[in-house]
Amino acid sequence: MKPFLFKINALAKNILILIQPHVILSFLIQPFAFFAHFLSLTKWIAQQPTKGVYKDAFSLFRNYEHRYDLYNYVINREQLKNAEIIYIEMGVCGGGSFKWWMENNQHAQSQFHGFDTFEGLPENWGYFFKNGDMHAAVPELADSRGHFYKGLFQDTLVPFLTTSNIKEKRKVIHLDADLFSSTLFSLSMLYPYLQKGDIIFFDEFNVPNHEYLAYKIFTESFYVNLELMGSVNNYYQAAFIVK
Ligand SMILES: C[S@@+](CC[C@H](N)C(=O)[O-])C[C@H]1O[C@@H](n2cnc3c(N)ncnc32)[C@H](O)[C@@H]1O
Repeated sequence: MKPFLFKINALAKNILILIQPHVILSFLIQPFAFFAHFLSLTKWIAQQPTKGVYKDAFSLFRNYEHRYDLYNYVINREQLKNAEIIYIEMGVCGGGSFKWWMENNQHAQSQFHGFDTFEGLPENWGYFFKNGDMHAAVPELADSRGHFYKGLFQDTLVPFLTTSNIKEKRKVIHLDADLFSSTLFSLSMLYPYLQKGDIIFFDEFNVPNHEYLAYKIFTESFYVNLELMGSVNNYYQAAFIVK
């Protein structure tokens, strides 16, 4: 029976390739993909443990200030205020979150590395944000522990990783690039440097076709166990610890 079904499966696929259904149905690609990833996201949310995991109250509207509650929760739980950390931020823009972490970790040996084109998003992000949106001047820093790397992650991250000594140190990685491509690229390149106890924040986690999808593909393809530490704004911002 199995070999027969196998043949039928191949036959059906070959016929579909021959008739090229996309010619009339390609308008379905986006909505179907969005819907599939949205279902996957809500299923994932339903599977998350609630015990020992920080979560703000459900709210119909997003409050961006709540992300600082999540940062504070993680920094206190993991006693990071006075610990030596390597903070890596993918997507710096004006430096809001970058500066928060520098102010809230005072260890003299901590390092803060921020990556951005500073010329805005390299591609459209959904319907609302266009290529070039979010451009900002490279932020001024009075603290010499901070460094910025201007350019596409695809050009700047690997040279940084191969010349720095970050593997053995505790890392806090902040993924705030919004885009699927940028987030998946960052996670994939950072993978060899990850170790147990490293922390990964997503700033737009519950966007089905972008950060959530990058998280899903990364964890499933690299067999990485990321345990949820907390979330705010109905999983818009989420923090994980590498297990
Ligand atoms: C939402 S903003 C970052 C916000 C910032 N972390 C904050 O808290 O204010 C996203 C940034 O990601 C950057 N970005 C996205 N993809 C990128 C890529 N592939 N290479 C470099 N920068 C990228 C954009 O230029 C943009 O400035």
